[in-house]
Amino acid sequence: MSSNIQGCKRTHYCGEIHHADKGSRVTIAGWVQRSRDLGGLIFIDMRDRTGIAQAVFNPETYPQAHALAHSVKPEYCIVITGELGERPEDMRNPSMPTGDFEILVDEMKILNESQTPPFVVEDGIDVTDTLRLKYRYLDLRRPSLQRNILMRHKASSCIRRFLDSNGFIDVETPVLTKSTPEGARDYLVPSRVFPGRCYALPQSPQLFKQLLMVSGFDRYYQIVKCFRDEDLRADRQPEFTQIDIEMSFIDMDDILTITETMIVELFKETIGVELPQPFVRMSYDTAMDQYGTDRPDIRFDMQLKDLTDIASQCDFRVFTSVISEGGVVKGFAVKAPHGFSRKDLDNLNSVIADHGAKGVMWARLEEDGWKSTLTKFLSDEQKAVIEERLDLAPGDLALLVADSREIANASLSALRLYIAEKLGLIREDAYGSLWVTEFPLLEWNEEAGRLVSVHHPFTAPRTQDLPQLETDPGCVKSQAYDMVINGYEVGGGSVRIHTREIQQRVFKAIGLSDEEARSKFGFLLEALQYGAPPHGGIAFGFDRLIMILAGSSSIRDVIAFPKTQKAYCTMTDAPSSVDSGQLAQIGMKLLKEKEG
Ligand code: AMO
Repeated sequence: MSSNIQGCKRTHYCGEIHHADKGSRVTIAGWVQRSRDLGGLIFIDMRDRTGIAQAVFNPETYPQAHALAHSVKPEYCIVITGELGERPEDMRNPSMPTGDFEILVDEMKILNESQTPPFVVEDGIDVTDTLRLKYRYLDLRRPSLQRNILMRHKASSCIRRFLDSNGFIDVETPVLTKSTPEGARDYLVPSRVFPGRCYALPQSPQLFKQLLMVSGFDRYYQIVKCFRDEDLRADRQPEFTQIDIEMSFIDMDDILTITETMIVELFKETIGVELPQPFVRMSYDTAMDQYGTDRPDIRFDMQLKDLTDIASQCDFRVFTSVISEGGVVKGFAVKAPHGFSRKDLDNLNSVIADHGAKGVMWARLEEDGWKSTLTKFLSDEQKAVIEERLDLAPGDLALLVADSREIANASLSALRLYIAEKLGLIREDAYGSLWVTEFPLLEWNEEAGRLVSVHHPFTAPRTQDLPQLETDPGCVKSQAYDMVINGYEVGGGSVRIHTREIQQRVFKAIGLSDEEARSKFGFLLEALQYGAPPHGGIAFGFDRLIMILAGSSSIRDVIAFPKTQKAYCTMTDAPSSVDSGQLAQIGMKLLKEKEG
């Protein structure tokens, strides 16, 4: 009767049976979500990546199929055939696309049984991340994860389509390569052929894409894996994916315009959201002054204000001593009604504890004046200036931090986010997208004891700042830019250095001797001598973009097989030990073994 079922050839996906004609025969294959035995009839909800369909087994019409249906359990893989019918009025489910229909099964085959899964395969379950990652293939059957992975697919096709139609060429670059400095530690791969030497997995294809410009490919892209051994966070994985882009004969505006359009298309195609264009452009200095971070979340207000000038005139020692050591007093207003009790306000100290600030000071402005420990240290005129600068009205709250500029900024930025979330100031359907530009080229790194690149050392200094590269390198601005959406840095890039002379000057500014520069980047310095064109580019964090599109707060939710916070794969048990024979082949021996 049913060659379909024997050959396991479905006619429809579970979630699409409503596209078939009523009364027609349909075959669907999938997994058992649940089964209900109502004495006579058995109902089985079958799931595949498109949704759920209800199958009905009637003991009177098809006793064989009904008998088999008795034995199925959740997550069995089955195929069924039957007639598509309409559910009785009182059994319809308007929240499901297939909710008006059911399949009256006349034949069923169990394709594979399933053990009782370690957790129920549905959304909203309370399971530890460790268990979910260990059984990721089951976790991935859950509708929300299926949606995210399909969104990822849709997004990558959209990006490819956009870039293809704008003349970008997809070129693969090596995975076994030499260290590319993006600020993290490298993952190393020892060489068997050259004992004692290692390849580095690319932190990004940075140098290769620049070399492709030297080769004349003009517009390059790649959706590519990058590897960074760094402390992990909710938006960081040790291996992650970039949409990597490079262009020749362009200026910064060209890159920002075309890639902004790409991101706008991406949001439109995947989630139907129109991001307002052009994106705001904010200088790094403004971002730091007003938001305390170079990746401001502009979906809500509460901008930071500098109060150092007023604070320096008051008698409060905390203020005056911080200021005398070069620190600042900054703060922002929280508008009424905020509902913060005194206890809540004291608890704010824990929000900033990680950032090294000594504490948050607060002042409540009420009809009859200020309620704050600061009151006695401030004159009426000083309070009036603060009220004006923070735009305080009765009922509002002022939160202040006095510390070094870095600590005050980091603390207030964290505080701003915390308050916005706590007070529900962030609309779920709001998207705050902007470009941050005019970054410093270099910054002082305490650990390294020298200046390091803020982006990477191939970033071009602003032309007008070039004369200061040797005299005042800390003041030189770069031609770098980041795209920020909802407070996440989703992309970063720059116009590049394309002459050997300037590249050498920048290497020198970050303390690389000629010898080091030659041994690390000799191939680049050489390539720049062969008519390297002016060029620039950007890389977007693909996982972060999908995370935002999917409305998730962790990139693990949009990566099929992510690693834990410790860069460990619970499912495959990677990284795993290597036996001494394998190590010997690559000329290595474990230190521990040696000691033992
Ligand atoms: P950058 O280091 O800024 O630039 O990286 C580009 C973008 O990649 C994303 N990203 C990450 N996503 C997940 N996990 C990580 N560990 C991680 N690290 C970075 C971020 C970031 O904005 N070669 C340059 C680009 C260029 O100059 O063209 C680069 O890699 O969203």
